[in-house]
Amino acid sequence: IKTIGILTSGGDAPGMNAAIRAVTRAGIYNGFEIKAVYRGYDGLITDDIKPFTTENVSGIIGQGGTILKTARSKGFATVEGRKTAYDNLVKEGIDALVVIGGNGSLTGAMKFAQEHDFCCIGLPGTIDNDLYGTDSTIGYDTTMNTIVECVDRIRDTAQSHERIFFVEVMGRDAGFLAQNSAIASGAEAAIIPEDSTDVDQLARFMERGIRKSKRSCIVIVSESPKCGAMYYADRVRKEFPDYDVRVSILGHLQRGGRPSARDRILASSTGVGAVEAIMQGQRNIMVGVRNNEVVYVPLSEAIRSDKPFDRKLIKVLDELSI
Ligand code: F6P
Repeated sequence: IKTIGILTSGGDAPGMNAAIRAVTRAGIYNGFEIKAVYRGYDGLITDDIKPFTTENVSGIIGQGGTILKTARSKGFATVEGRKTAYDNLVKEGIDALVVIGGNGSLTGAMKFAQEHDFCCIGLPGTIDNDLYGTDSTIGYDTTMNTIVECVDRIRDTAQSHERIFFVEVMGRDAGFLAQNSAIASGAEAAIIPEDSTDVDQLARFMERGIRKSKRSCIVIVSESPKCGAMYYADRVRKEFPDYDVRVSILGHLQRGGRPSARDRILASSTGVGAVEAIMQGQRNIMVGVRNNEVVYVPLSEAIRSDKPFDRKLIKVLDELSI
């Protein structure tokens, strides 16, 4: 392998730039040429590809977003799109591809690798922390800190007005962001997909708070197309008409901002790990970190939808929110 291509795909995540920098620098350090692919898999299809030097990645370690741009490519979801992408990779002389992205992006990488017998290496780039086989994903720590900062602010106004706030956070189908940011911000409850929360349960919890004369309360709700923060707020308004209920949907501000030190380190060590993997002849794996060790996880395993959720965290929040 002489030339490594690199792209970011799917939702951007703080730390993606640190990962681009790490792959570029480690690649050049070890004698590879690096080619940057713009706009995710779309750039493979449109041949939006440029050679990268160490200068291209100067000063980006602390920047949020991704200098390569990103996309949720519809074209790459088709057999024809992937064939065009392969032809362009061959034309560009790229013999290994590093994909920084989440579940959908690594699923695309796995399909492509199988169809075209191509060396694909994934880096876990998503705020959702939903990739199997790695303790954390690039962007997750920064986003959690952003949520906690927001909830600290919301608490000021919640306490002043004695209101109940339902704060909706991202995470797609996973509740890692909701559960852990609830613990870290001292929220009273979290509603997550991993644990069924019915309105009766929530009502009992609110009554407990009221008995203890807690007049304000913050519930973190993991986003869900069926029942997000609005749904629970409406139900609680019905059960407790005397309570002043508000909803705050944090939205895309959760994806922006300077990456935390933790995310920069994760991106740097997995980026170096990706280049090492290529040198060792590894193929079709994601580079993750478990117990502070860089690990290689088969792509087919990384995209599993059942990443273990530590249920002890539910108890931690419950006990501390009395
Ligand atoms: O996967 C990252 C993520 O931010 C999810 O938490 C969220 O559900 C989704 O992307 C939002 O995607 P978009 O920016 O395309 O609306």
